[in-house]
Amino acid sequence: MDTLRVVYRNIFVETILLIAVLVQIVSGLKLFNTNRKTARLSFKKLHIWTGLYLAVFFIIHVSAVFVGRLILRLDTNFYFGVAGLNSFPANLFFIPYYALAIISFFGHIASIHNKKMKQTILGFTPIVQSLTILILGFFFAMLVFYGLTNKFNGVAIPKEYEVLIGK
Ligand code: HEM
Repeated sequence: MDTLRVVYRNIFVETILLIAVLVQIVSGLKLFNTNRKTARLSFKKLHIWTGLYLAVFFIIHVSAVFVGRLILRLDTNFYFGVAGLNSFPANLFFIPYYALAIISFFGHIASIHNKKMKQTILGFTPIVQSLTILILGFFFAMLVFYGLTNKFNGVAIPKEYEVLIGK
C-alpha cells in the first residue's frame, strides 16, 4: 500500500480515479434504471445487479475512506480496512459487504465477457469462460479474507482504530 500510494494518492491521479468512480456510479445507476425491466437472461441479470451493488458499494466505501481520512484523522491503511472484518458483531456486516463487492466486480466482468465474447477458447464456450471468471471471483474473495482476518495470521487492531468498531 505504501508503494502504491505514491501513485494512486498523487493529487492528479487520485482526482482522475475519483472522477472515474463518480462516472461509474452515475452511469451505473442510470443503466440499472433503464435495463432492470428488460433483463431476461441470467448473465444480463447478473450484469445489472452486480452493477447496482458496485454503485452502492462505491458510495459507501469511498465516503468511509474520506470520513476516516478527513474527519476521524486516521491513516486509512490496512487496519482501517480490516478492523470491521476482525471483530464481532461488525463482521456480520463486513463479511458480506466486502465479499459481495469482490464477487460483483468479477461478476460484472464475467457478464460483459459473456456479452462480447464469441469465440471458443481451447474448447471452452463463452458461457463456460464467463462462469470461470465468476467462480474465480468467489475464490479470490476467500483468498482476500484469508489474508485479512486474524483467524489465520494474528492481525491485532491498534487502539486508534477501535473507534470504527464501537469500542
Ligand atoms: C476486502 C475488500 C476491500 C478492502 C479491505 C478495501 C480497503 C480499502 C482501503 C483501506 C482504502 C483506503 C486506501 C488509502 O487510504 O490509501 C480503500 C480505498 C478505495 N477502495 Fe477499497 N477495499 C476493498 C475492496 C474494494 C473494491 C472491490 C473496490 C472496487 C471495485 C474498491 C475501491 C476503492 C477505491 C476507489 C478507493 C479510493 C482510493 C483513493 O481515494 O485514492 N475497494 N479501500
